Amino acid sequence: MVIKKAEFIISNTDSSLCPKDGRLEYAFIGRSNVGKSSLINMLTGVKGLALTSSTPGKTQLINHFLINDAWYLVDLPGYGYARRGKKGREKIQQIIDAYLSEREELTCLFVLLDCRHEPQKIDLEFINQLGESDIPFAIIFTKIDKISQRKLNENVAQYKAKLLETWDELPPVFYTSAEHKKGKDEVLSYIEEINKAVSG
Ligand code: GTP
Ligand code: MG
Repeated sequence: MVIKKAEFIISNTDSSLCPKDGRLEYAFIGRSNVGKSSLINMLTGVKGLALTSSTPGKTQLINHFLINDAWYLVDLPGYGYARRGKKGREKIQQIIDAYLSEREELTCLFVLLDCRHEPQKIDLEFINQLGESDIPFAIIFTKIDKISQRKLNENVAQYKAKLLETWDELPPVFYTSAEHKKGKDEVLSYIEEINKAVSG
C-alpha cells in the first residue's frame, strides 16, 4: 500500500472527543522514547507529522492522523516514564486506559518494543493486560539499526519465549528502523490486509 495523503486531524486527552466518523484506526503504544512518533513519520513518509524528541515524554495526547482519506493512524503517549513523577504517570495511564477501553474503532494496536532491551516487566504486563481486555494487537521491534542481527535474534527469541509463558500463540511481529526506513512495507501491508478483511 502507498500512503498518498497523511493529515493531522486532532489531539485529545479525552477519547470521547476523538473523531466520530467510524473509520478504522491503528494505534501505536509502548514505553516513552521507544519510537512511536518516529515510526508514524516513517510509515507516512512525512517528516514532522508526529512530533518526536530525544527526551522521553514528548507525546502527551491522543493524536489522530487521517491516511488516504480512509483510515487513521493514532499516536499515543508512552507509558512508564519515570521522570514524569507518580501523578504525571497516572494521568497518562488514565488517558491510555480510557482510549483502549472505549475506542471501538481501534482495529489493531501496535505495541512497540525497543529491540536493544531484554524483556521488560512493564511491557510484558501491558501485553498480558491486552489479552484480558481482548484488544487485537501486533508487536513491533523498533530501532533495529542500533544493534547487530545476531543480538536482535537473541533479544527477540527471549521476548518470544517470555510471551509464550502466558500466550498460546504469538501475535504478528514486525521489525522496524525509522532511521533506515526498514519494515515500512511489512507494516503497511498488514494494515491493508486488515482494512480489506474488515470492509470486505
Ligand atoms: P514519547 O512520545 O516520548 O512517548 O516517545 P516516542 O515513542 O514517540 O519516541 P520518538 O519517536 O519521539 O523517538 C524517540 C527518540 O528515538 C528520538 O530521538 C528518535 O530520533 C529516536 N528513534 C526513533 N526511532 C528510531 C530508529 O528506528 N532508529 C534510531 N536510531 N533512532 C530512533
Ligand atoms: Mg511520541
